[in-house]
Amino acid sequence: MSEQDLNMEEGRDSVVREPQANSVATPAWPFILMVVLLWCGMRYFDAHGGAFDNRVFAKNMSSPPPVLGMSPEQEALAKGKTVYLQYCAACHQPHGKGVPGQFPPLSGSDWVNNVGPNRMIRLVLDGVSGPITVNGAVYNNAMVPWRPMLSDEQIAWVVSYVRNDPEWGNTGTFVSAAEVKAIREATVSHAGQPYSAGELLSSPDSN
Ligand code: HEC
Repeated sequence: MSEQDLNMEEGRDSVVREPQANSVATPAWPFILMVVLLWCGMRYFDAHGGAFDNRVFAKNMSSPPPVLGMSPEQEALAKGKTVYLQYCAACHQPHGKGVPGQFPPLSGSDWVNNVGPNRMIRLVLDGVSGPITVNGAVYNNAMVPWRPMLSDEQIAWVVSYVRNDPEWGNTGTFVSAAEVKAIREATVSHAGQPYSAGELLSSPDSN
């Protein structure tokens, strides 16, 4: 066969052997393998992952692990802030500085930072009206009572928060729900009658 014949032969072959796309069913085994591997991985992770508990992972952290849970004080501050923003901030403002001439400040207030929480608990329970001097400025307005609205716990949280907000510079003691309950019961005859500032000043400043 001459070289030309060979070329022609090849040319014919390439026409005959044109690639054909046959339809072949996708094999199922890679999918089955994938599912089996995922299942095994999940089983392994469940058994050894420690549910992301930071006691398991802390040793691999570069910074100290977060504190587990909150201290009772941190909890009172967090819950008290929620109560404050919901029930008090409309007048005393979220920053606690009040509105000059209308709503007195709680931030730095001599009423709030009083030695004991007694007077503050009383005025939150039953309100206060008439002239009141706060940090040297006189206000003559009225504050609504919270006795029917807020539980002992809610009042304890909000008084604790207001007396200790780190940004407001207040440094009072924390208050328990039991202390609020005792004052609520002892002053039940005052329900519905707001205090005057003078009356509050004549009540003991600590329990
Ligand atoms: C509707 C407005 C209003 C709301 C809401 C309100 N207050 Fe008052 N608050 C006042 C006014 C007004 C006074 C001053 C009353 C007066 O002039 O006799 C006052 C006085 C006070 C005082 C004593 C004075 C001072 O500035 O330290 C404290 C403490 C206080 N409020 C805490 C609270 C807390 C806590 C809440 C939420 C549970 C609250 N108030 C909700 C209006 C309000």
